[in-house]
Amino acid sequence: MVSRKHISVQAPSNIAFVKYWGKTGRQYPINPSVSMTLKKCYTGCQISYCEGVDALSVDEFLFSGAKNEKFRKRIETYLHDIAQEMPMLNNLSLAIETENTFPHSAGIASSASAFAAIAYGLVHIEQELGIEAEQTIEQRASMLARLGSGSAGRSIAGPYTIWGDFTPEQSHNDFATEIKGIHPEFHQVKDAILLIDRQEKKVSSSAGHKLMENHPYRQARIEQAQDHTVRIIQAMRSGDWDCFGKILENDALALHSLMMTSDPSFILLAPNSLAVIARIRDFRETQNVPVYFTIDAGPNIHLIYPKSHEIQVEKFIEEELVSFCEDRKYIIDECGSGARILHA
Ligand code: DP6
Repeated sequence: MVSRKHISVQAPSNIAFVKYWGKTGRQYPINPSVSMTLKKCYTGCQISYCEGVDALSVDEFLFSGAKNEKFRKRIETYLHDIAQEMPMLNNLSLAIETENTFPHSAGIASSASAFAAIAYGLVHIEQELGIEAEQTIEQRASMLARLGSGSAGRSIAGPYTIWGDFTPEQSHNDFATEIKGIHPEFHQVKDAILLIDRQEKKVSSSAGHKLMENHPYRQARIEQAQDHTVRIIQAMRSGDWDCFGKILENDALALHSLMMTSDPSFILLAPNSLAVIARIRDFRETQNVPVYFTIDAGPNIHLIYPKSHEIQVEKFIEEELVSFCEDRKYIIDECGSGARILHA
């Protein structure tokens, strides 16, 4: 009897500072994006596998200890798709189990951490089987994760990554890479995620990306994202929180402006999102504390600030912002170093 082998990995989610919005071809971004890799919000993934079968099969898929048919189908389709890049899959039978450290619909991209964890695990299996690849493990895992969900490609490395062809940074469309030379001011950065509304998104990210194809501001957005990428990386290398924060907020609001002005138009911000934004700006100005916001494709607000100011910011959240959160819930995370293998 052929024995099954096991591998166990962890991959975190990430939060974009310059947003990926719009794609082309085989899940390539239309603009460069920059993100911070999280630490505590991650997917743990156990893969058991056995070689020598005639066709790829996913014998079992468990999410948080329970069968999840919707997710199993998505993973199966994904694995068949990436068998082009990873032929070993055609002869593997797999059992996959994943669990997240953060709640579903918490405004944290669970597809990013899940695909990053699965891709990272698969690349290690490939290595175990002695299959050689041209790219490094990180590049290959990022490339495969990207094919599952674009932003997942940015969850392999950390604490900061760039994804998308962009000459000044020599970055790539195929995979994300770590941004080097970051100033000590940005070595310990926190992300407090305020759960404004935990309902399922009205419009999926994939549908939103598609609306960029004929968007009247498409070209201007590509140029803006390139400009934001250059300037935000410069700010992170020179330790300039003020400049960093202006670009961060501007890029998040640009993302939501694109949603509001697409055809059909949609609005993901909630009244409480705007109330929180106003309070953050007011607190920053009156208290002179470097705390800035960003927002993904949903109503939840991420507060980004240096760990050195955590006491003031977290007191401010408790005293002034929790009342805007659903069930007064929020999550505090910080930058982390990316995917890791726990056991092979
Ligand atoms: C607003 O990576 O979720 O979070 O590639 O279709 O899976 P797919 O989209 P996804 O899009 C993320 C959009 C965003 C911005 C970002 O993370 O850069």
